[in-house]
This record gives sequence, structure tokens and C-alpha cells, in this order.
Amino acid sequence: MPASRIVYVLNGPNLNLLGQRQPQIYGHETLADVEASCRRVGVELSLEIAFHQSNAEHEIIGWIHEARTRAGGIVINPAAYSHTSVAILDALSACEFPVMEVHISNIHRREAFRHHSYVSAVAAGVIAGFGTEGYGYALRRLAMLIDAA
Ligand code: DQA
Repeated sequence: MPASRIVYVLNGPNLNLLGQRQPQIYGHETLADVEASCRRVGVELSLEIAFHQSNAEHEIIGWIHEARTRAGGIVINPAAYSHTSVAILDALSACEFPVMEVHISNIHRREAFRHHSYVSAVAAGVIAGFGTEGYGYALRRLAMLIDAA
């Protein structure tokens, strides 16, 4: 059976404030801009995008569980939960498809507590420091993996 072309793009806490929050770090694009560009790339790559953001860990876990049985992959910017959440790591570990981790900023150039991400342990790839463009790169890589599956 071919891999599903549904891709979940999940965003963690405070990313609803994109464009307003620390623009010197995260840029001027809003989350709506990011969603629109993911949808454009999705059309180009024949991927169906399910785009979500939440400030609540359990909601993100709920979407991961939903994706588990219907998606071909996940692009996730877990935001601060990257550095704290074993629960999100466990949810992603229960998925058999590729997971791409995205950070808008280069977390390795920032405070030491941002250098470790639990999610990286299960990610097929990690993109950090490419600004909001990183989402598009992650989707392109995911499409390649889905095509090759
Ligand atoms: C972030 C980096 C995290 O350390 C931070 O907590 C975020 C956003 C990024 O996209 O650069 O909220 O994931």
C-alpha cells in the first residue's frame, strides 16, 4: 500500500504569536503566513496538509495520535516542548512514518537549555536556523521519503 500523502504540520506553544514575538529571533511572518506557504508547497508536492498549533501539550499529543493512523509523516516545531517533553517524544515514537523537526531559530546558537531536544531522538531530520523557510524544506524532504516508501 502506498504511504499516505497526508502530512501533519504541528506547532507548539507560543508559535501563535509568530510575527509579534521576538521578531529579531523568529522573524516577521505570522503563523497564518507559515500555514499558507505550507499549503502552497503541499499543492506543489501533492501533499494534503493538516496544520495545527496549540499551547497545550495534550492537544499536540492528540494530533500525533490522530496522524499515527492516517498520515504519511509529521513536520513538527515542538517549540519549548522540544526541550521538556518526554510525552511528545513517546507519542512520536509510536508513529512508524518519518518525523521532521523544525526550529525557526538556530537553537544551538542560543541558551544551553535549548541545545537538547527530546524530539530529535526520533526525527528523521532536524532543521534549525532557516527561519520559517525551514517548514518548506522539511515538507520537501518528507515528500521525497514518502515517494521512496
Ligand atoms: C523554537 C525554539 C525553541 O527553543 C523555542 O522555545 C520556541 C521556538 C524555534 O522555532 O526556533 O518557542 O522551536
